[in-house]
Amino acid sequence: MAIAELLQHYQQRIDHYLDALIISEGIEPRLQEAMRYSLFNGGKRIRPALIYLVNQMLGGGDQQADQAAAAIECIHSYSLVHDDLPAMDDDDLRRGKPSCHVAFDEATAILAGDALQCLAFELLCNASQLPANCRLALIDTLSQAAGHHGMVAGQAFDLRHVGQPLTLPQIEAMHQHKTGALLKAAVRMGAQCSGQASQPQLDALSRYADAIGLAFQVQDDILDVEGSVEQIGKPAGSDQAQHKPTYPALLGMAAAKAKLTELHAQALAALTDLPNSQHLAALADFIVARDH
Ligand code: IPE
Ligand code: IPE
Ligand code: MG
Ligand code: MG
Ligand code: MG
Repeated sequence: MAIAELLQHYQQRIDHYLDALIISEGIEPRLQEAMRYSLFNGGKRIRPALIYLVNQMLGGGDQQADQAAAAIECIHSYSLVHDDLPAMDDDDLRRGKPSCHVAFDEATAILAGDALQCLAFELLCNASQLPANCRLALIDTLSQAAGHHGMVAGQAFDLRHVGQPLTLPQIEAMHQHKTGALLKAAVRMGAQCSGQASQPQLDALSRYADAIGLAFQVQDDILDVEGSVEQIGKPAGSDQAQHKPTYPALLGMAAAKAKLTELHAQALAALTDLPNSQHLAALADFIVARDH
């Protein structure tokens, strides 16, 4: 299957799974509506796809990865809802539609993000087809990647350095945290779901994840400059308007693109020792070539 079809397949699988999770009921249907609004608005579902693909590569069945895939997408969705808030990036458009705080209101967006975050860990706790030690390992991986050592730390660093020049190592560390950490967690969680990764395989996957994690944000920064609103579904030129520290801002566009090519090569090199890694290679190709 070509990567586009494969992504679509997993997109449908995870949409179907997530759909059953939040049914508007109880005392706060509006909160649940905001959660659904944020989960089902055309996300690419790259992180779930990574979990499924790594799990499958190591011999696991898709069913054993469903909760982990849903959990990471809940964390990702929550991070976007909060990222768009006026106190953060103040962006009104997400995935081609009004951001959650615009469609609802700020307080509801904050709370929808909070609830999505809790839902992620609830899912992992209740992943009954996985042994308890595996569930615990998944919770450990995701909480570390999402929290104050990972994504949230990257977001805090980003906001604290708006308008300030960064050094290359600083910008790299920021990207590794705010975006790389969750992508790396996806790769690790895929291996954990399969229950059968060897240490050399984990090491190779970790090198692959580091490269695609950074590449993903470099391409996001490039698309913010070169993409159109229609393409990227979020305001174009937003980083520059807000004096965000980005690769193109620091290095210029040509060097940012050279960095992307270098990271792509690193990702592919990391896969050479892994069997059946063609889908992961295709995903790395997709990440650097994506236009949305
Ligand atoms: C956007 O992530 C935010 C970043 C971490 C750069 P995605 O590009 O994966 O967003 P969706 O889920 O497909 O909309
Ligand atoms: C944010 O990076 C990554 C997150 C952790 C949500 P950006 O702020 O560049 O993401 P976009 O461009 O708004 O999707
Ligand atoms: Mg941001
Ligand atoms: Mg943003
Ligand atoms: Mg961006």
